[in-house]
Amino acid sequence: MRVRPGTEADAEQAALVLRRSITELCLRDHGNDPALLASWLANKTPEKFREWVRAEDSLCLVAVAGDDTVIGVGLMSKVGEIRLNYVSPDARFQGVSTALIGALEVAAAELGVPRLNLNSTTTAHAFYLARGFQDVGQPQTDRLKDNIYPMAKSLAAEET
Ligand SMILES: CC(C)(COP(=O)(O)OP(=O)(O)OC[C@H]1O[C@@H](n2cnc3c(N)ncnc32)[C@H](O)[C@@H]1OP(=O)(O)O)[C@@H](O)C(=O)NCCC(=O)NCCS
Repeated sequence: MRVRPGTEADAEQAALVLRRSITELCLRDHGNDPALLASWLANKTPEKFREWVRAEDSLCLVAVAGDDTVIGVGLMSKVGEIRLNYVSPDARFQGVSTALIGALEVAAAELGVPRLNLNSTTTAHAFYLARGFQDVGQPQTDRLKDNIYPMAKSLAAEET
């Protein structure tokens, strides 16, 4: 497995990974509610992925298997907001999200970003806590069936 910049050629596979990850892995968060799931999936399309790849204000990474199949997708704004971090259900718990977050952290440090921010699903909350992110503010309860956790990680310590 390796992490590389996403390309427009990855769009179909990447959109499928995003859709399957949300549908199959984030059950606690959407509870199979059709309307909620539809709104969460609405922008997880090949067309939107191509936009993310082209956008100059963000960094889009993919994790790929040895045969270059996309198995994870990460997206971060260049001011340090992690907007996507999704793994294929076929590649769960094999270090994919750890590698994606690690690569985004390295990129953020290179950009001089002092702090990463994200809104975690309940599904991924323990994962982020174990990787040095901390809760900031109250969990949000309005958008999904379970909590959404605003989290942040300071990168300043890594500069010393
Ligand atoms: C939880 C998730 C993010 C972990 O990603 P992954 O690529 O499967 O995980 P990795 O192999 O890189 O890391 C394993 C970590 O997953 C977490 N984990 C392990 N078992 C878990 C479980 N049953 N449920 C949830 N998280 C678990 C632990 O933090 C573990 O870390 P540890 O081995 O240091 O204890 C991923 O499996 C997932 O469910 N993604 C769904 C999409 C999502 O919610 N994305 C985040 C949007 S903010």
